[in-house]
Amino acid sequence: MQGVTVVDHPLVQHKLTIMRSKETSTAGFRRLLREISLLLGYEVTRNLELTTKTIETPLTSMEAPTLEGKKLVFASVLRAGNGLLEGLLDLVPAARVAHIGLYRDHETLQAVEYFFKAPSDLADRLIIIVDPMLATANSAIAAVEMLKARGATNMRFLCLLAAPEGIERFTRAHPDVPVFTAAIDDHLNELGYIVPGLGDAGDRMYGTK
Ligand code: PRP
Ligand code: URA
Repeated sequence: MQGVTVVDHPLVQHKLTIMRSKETSTAGFRRLLREISLLLGYEVTRNLELTTKTIETPLTSMEAPTLEGKKLVFASVLRAGNGLLEGLLDLVPAARVAHIGLYRDHETLQAVEYFFKAPSDLADRLIIIVDPMLATANSAIAAVEMLKARGATNMRFLCLLAAPEGIERFTRAHPDVPVFTAAIDDHLNELGYIVPGLGDAGDRMYGTK
């Protein structure tokens, strides 16, 4: 599928299976989401641009690779995005963070905005938007629109699970934003949940059901 990368690493798939199980506890779910974010983060940052700088090792000087450009931004779609964010910040501790408050209206499935805070110079940075679930894609499409409205041009969207319907809608709305996911599930049900899925990611992370 054009613009979509499925991260099929065996550790990712194994951890995802445990997360899907309804027997997995809140603590287990949260820990696994953090662990899996490290593996997904490895893939989503795989082709970051490198430059070199001169350093002194204890033996000699060398031209050594280092990340080029401004610090990247992780944009977390609240609440559940924070589960991916924590692990990603372990991987890239100097990254900047944007918080995008969106919730799905359970009747209409439309994304409702309630918070936005991001670095001011979004135009100069790579932004990795993180949210475990891409269902109807209303939230993801809105998040990208909010970032684009503030100047963002270089974005990637990282999730854990996607519905085929959501991928279709998202890539049509924002063909310039590549998607990284651990799995594409079967379908969305009539309530907008991903099937077989893992349930409500925010509720499972925070024990709010
Ligand atoms: C969940 C999830 C996504 C959204 C995906 O959030 O974390 O943001 O649903 O669904 P969509 O693709 O149909 O928009 P939710 O709105 O439940 O908020 P929460 O993270 O605060 O629980
Ligand atoms: N949001 C979730 O948390 N889970 C779904 O299955 C769909 C949207």
